[in-house]
Amino acid sequence: MSDGRLVVVSNRIPTDAQPSGGLVVALHEALESRGGVWIGSSGEIAEAPGPLHEIPHDSYTKLAYDLTEAEHKGFYLGHANSVIWPLFHHRADLIDVDEENRWKYMSVNARVAKLVAEVLEPDDVLWIHDYHFLPLAFELRKLGVRNRIGFFLHITFPNPSDIAALPDRKQLGTWISSCDLVGLQTKRDVSACLEWLRSDTDAEFTLRGRMKLDDRLFEVRSFPIGIDVDSFARAAEAADITIADLPVDQKLVLGVDRLDYSKGLPNRFEAFGKYLSQRQPDAPRATMLQIAPPSREDVEAYRDIRAELESMAGSVNGEHAEIDWTPIRYLRRPIPREILAGLYRRADLCLVTPLADGMNLVAKEFVAAQDGNNPGVLILSHFAGAAEQLDEALMVNPYDIAGMAKAIDQALAMSLHERHARWLSMMRVIRETDISWWTDSYLRALRGQPELQEA
Ligand code: UDP
Ligand code: G6P
Repeated sequence: MSDGRLVVVSNRIPTDAQPSGGLVVALHEALESRGGVWIGSSGEIAEAPGPLHEIPHDSYTKLAYDLTEAEHKGFYLGHANSVIWPLFHHRADLIDVDEENRWKYMSVNARVAKLVAEVLEPDDVLWIHDYHFLPLAFELRKLGVRNRIGFFLHITFPNPSDIAALPDRKQLGTWISSCDLVGLQTKRDVSACLEWLRSDTDAEFTLRGRMKLDDRLFEVRSFPIGIDVDSFARAAEAADITIADLPVDQKLVLGVDRLDYSKGLPNRFEAFGKYLSQRQPDAPRATMLQIAPPSREDVEAYRDIRAELESMAGSVNGEHAEIDWTPIRYLRRPIPREILAGLYRRADLCLVTPLADGMNLVAKEFVAAQDGNNPGVLILSHFAGAAEQLDEALMVNPYDIAGMAKAIDQALAMSLHERHARWLSMMRVIRETDISWWTDSYLRALRGQPELQEA
């Protein structure tokens, strides 16, 4: 098979106007090194649906469409982020099903399919990303597109019982089988997907692990997403962060998360409060710096989590602060990655404690940023996709507040020898499965080329 261009589609693309999440960070790194075309939303609102327009960029071609107000509301805020996101993060209690929003979700997918089809050349491979575009491959096949199509889901694949609450449940199998390769973050996600295909669809399991549904053959495999370890490590070394009012003997506990209910932030604040209540009077002071830029604020559940967290930070500080010490510092501003890199390196401990998370790049960035002579400790939830790879982190159950408080205590007292051994092992894993491994192994599989070594 010839090596045509790589054409990537995702709802979010990097623009000056928009903060990033893990998807944009990873795809930007992947496209910077290999070139290609990246199609996604400009983040601007237009009066009427229009064509793609180019956003100038050096190393790859960036093509953007504008959403209309109604599309933004129905497709992005509505169906994608008020139905699919909560359901796929096991929060059926938060879903807000609305027929008009669902219709907009489908119509934006059909419209973007037409825009993509106009750009595609016969040898191109198309790589579609994330839950905004579950039906995109199906819409493209309807238009007669025959290119290889891959889909990668950055978030967790839900359990069959969660999918039962999805209004699009009957179509999901057809959408997925319109792709040639469905990439998921973890082996656990693949098991959940296969279990659902087996129990709820007419998919047949064929030889060599391929599936057949609606007369189409497709594969479902895990490709844990990675980061550019070396460049992140270099950025961390160069950043050299000192926090003027944080004495060097004061421990820094760091959290970096989009302000999202899936990230388990209230549980984390509660656990830190519990740790403070139990800490020995002579133990060094620990300050938790939580960076939590707001996200999707027009969705009610996101406004609720913000209010809850602000009140919790206030109450933990009210109980434990001293005149010269504020135990929780809470920043809602997004922090540039170069500065984050330095903060990770300065931190003694990083808390990555989501209730559900596809991968969580922060966990990998923290490991990459450490000084090997004196590395910090990663506390990691079992429910982050990264837990399947980073089993040398201190693992916690984010629902077990006492267990998390104990882990914070253990981490802050951990010997250099143990910190070093754990860090080395995690560093090896993130190097072996870095961003170029992820892109290469996915695209080789999509193009039907021989495999790289399995993760
Ligand atoms: N990030 C950032 N500035 C911030 C907060 C986060 O640049 O203030 C970046 C962070 O470094 C990471 C990404 O946003 O690369 C978050 O990715 P992750 O997979 O952890 O979570 P997501 O937001 O995709 O759910
Ligand atoms: C997660 C999702 C991405 C999304 C990002 C930021 O990483 O998997 O698809 O881009 O969050 O969310 P936003 O709604 O701001 O794009």
